[in-house]
Amino acid sequence: MGNVILAIETSCDETAAAVVVDGVEVRANIIASQDIHRRYGGVVPEIASRRHLENIVPVVQEALDRAGITLARVDAVAATYGPGLVGSLLVGLSYAKGLAFALEKPFIGIHHLVGHIYAGFLEYPELPLPAVCLVASGGHTSLFYLVSHEERYLLGSTRDDAAGEAFDKVARALGLGYPGGPELERLAHKGKPNIYFPRAWLEEDSLDFSFSGLKTAVANYLRQSRETGQDICLPDVAASFQEAVIEVLVVKTLQAARRKGASSILAVGGVASNQYFRRSLKTAALEVGIPVFIPRPVYCTDNAAMIGCAAYYQYLRGQFSSLDLDAVPDLPL
Ligand code: KG4
Ligand code: ZN
Repeated sequence: MGNVILAIETSCDETAAAVVVDGVEVRANIIASQDIHRRYGGVVPEIASRRHLENIVPVVQEALDRAGITLARVDAVAATYGPGLVGSLLVGLSYAKGLAFALEKPFIGIHHLVGHIYAGFLEYPELPLPAVCLVASGGHTSLFYLVSHEERYLLGSTRDDAAGEAFDKVARALGLGYPGGPELERLAHKGKPNIYFPRAWLEEDSLDFSFSGLKTAVANYLRQSRETGQDICLPDVAASFQEAVIEVLVVKTLQAARRKGASSILAVGGVASNQYFRRSLKTAALEVGIPVFIPRPVYCTDNAAMIGCAAYYQYLRGQFSSLDLDAVPDLPL
């Protein structure tokens, strides 16, 4: 067996641990979701951190068991240190640092968004570079230009809501449960995108995003329809909203790829698990002849395997973190 990284991710409401060999082979990928938050229609930070505390030891143990290794075989321990909920981050980070210290092995802190990007290299280690990468999650919607493993630039990001956040908020307005993205996608599947909601393209050359206006447009449509006694077809509203978000994501990603002359397009983050998004981006990119890579849905949403892959590339460069590394809830890139 080659280089073995034990990775931990606890930035939000998933307690996740993975064992990744040589940055590509996922020996174990354990994700304990906290269903309790459904009851509140969103993540309750205090509850999330307490659940992480309960889950972290068994989740890490299960990852080691599945991988068929003991701690003695681990070459480095990695964990997300931000951005995210501070109480949640602290559980995984402190546990990882403690393990690394006890094992006398390097510790590697990983930026959550960098982790999402590396879901791409986990699945496609030969991804053609330079690439344009869209990260569309619940907290971020950003476009990156990936030149090499050492060099990347931010091309644009959301000025207000993230795409996943818009899915969650509109899902709530439609009376769906949390997390809203997958539920909204299921509902949209039964409807037609026959209601026009405005797309925020922003300035002509801007690669930034804005989704709060769209969210408001859906809320206004629902309110006006109720006030005037007009029938509301919820699946059509869901399909129309989904199409509006995804059209903007796809068009801006292609714009970025063409402008930068990218050799490939990568899409990651929770929203990239949406089947309509996956199909739309692939179809649109086919027309301009740029290959598209989207990891399997399980590696798009939060997981620790992506953190293990990102840590592997840092390991190769000898970039280890100090055991003083603190959780940074608003960690910039
Ligand atoms: O990457 P992720 O798991 O966690 C964050 O870093 O935020 O992304 C979660 C976000 C949530 O907002 C969720 O509603 C959205 O991704 N999401 C989806 C789908 N699955 C998850 N949005 C649209 N369609 C989906 N199938
Ligand atoms: Zn995430």
